[in-house]
Amino acid sequence: MAEVSQAWLDRVKRSQQQAAERLGIDVSEMLPPRDGSTGEVQESAAATPTPAAQPEPVAAAAQEAPEPSPQPAPTPVAAAAEPVASAEAPAATQTPTEDSAATVAAQQAPTAVQSNGSAAAAAAERVAPVGRAAVLESFEAGQEGINRREFLAYAYGGALSLLTLEGGLATYQFMYPRFREGEFGGEFNLGAATVLPQIGIDPEGNTTGKFWLINTDDGPHALYMVCTHLGCLYKWEPSNNRFECPCHGSKFSREGFYIEGPAPRSLDQFIIKVVQDGSVVAETADAGDLVTAPAVPAPEAEIVVDTGKRLQGKPAADSPAKKVV
Ligand code: FES
Repeated sequence: MAEVSQAWLDRVKRSQQQAAERLGIDVSEMLPPRDGSTGEVQESAAATPTPAAQPEPVAAAAQEAPEPSPQPAPTPVAAAAEPVASAEAPAATQTPTEDSAATVAAQQAPTAVQSNGSAAAAAAERVAPVGRAAVLESFEAGQEGINRREFLAYAYGGALSLLTLEGGLATYQFMYPRFREGEFGGEFNLGAATVLPQIGIDPEGNTTGKFWLINTDDGPHALYMVCTHLGCLYKWEPSNNRFECPCHGSKFSREGFYIEGPAPRSLDQFIIKVVQDGSVVAETADAGDLVTAPAVPAPEAEIVVDTGKRLQGKPAADSPAKKVV
């Protein structure tokens, strides 16, 4: 009898292993402890509705062990080997056993099914990690409010917006450059009008602002130091009391009017602002046929030269200082 029982256990074990291999699960996870202790798997095995799992251990237990078997091992075997047992021992289902191993097996069968389900779920997770990651990602999205893909999208969008903003700011600065006071392109506050050279005195050059400062009966002028012909730097010739260009011989009066030479027009001028009590009271202006100097109302008025605003000299043909040949 013991040999038959061992043969039956071996057959059931093989069936169990075959079933586990088909399901791709670890049999050790399904087996209850062999020391007779009741594990969690055994406790939850009470409600097994598996129809084919019940007859097989009943038959085996009725034939081989009329008394209740103390070994719980056949229980999961019955579920795992369900198709084999049901096919090989149909007659055994007729044997009534109430407190036999069949009853135990019948009670423990759901455990095996449940274990099989858990193990199958674990196997599904192993073979489908991507799907599991997607589920976790969705769960994290629900918990955190933003997932990795959304974060990257926001990061790229922010970087693109920042780049666009910087490009726009660079374009604005290129189109509308801003200069500090005292550098070419900005304003030069020369102080009170008393700094102006006396009328009839030689002009003073300001190399930083690139202008000649003179004073006339009409008011001060700030002449751009660059020749209107091809851009050479003309010079003041005190002996001739005029400006002369060393490149091609163009000559200009102390007021900047064209006298002779290839230059097409009189000298360009920067705008001079006369500031009094914080307000601009007069400035260089374009009067149409000539550039007019600002009037200085008081010696304490400030003289400000704006090198960012330049007025072109009038055509050579309209110059009042043009030399008549
Ligand atoms: Fe001054 Fe030609 S550049 S005359």
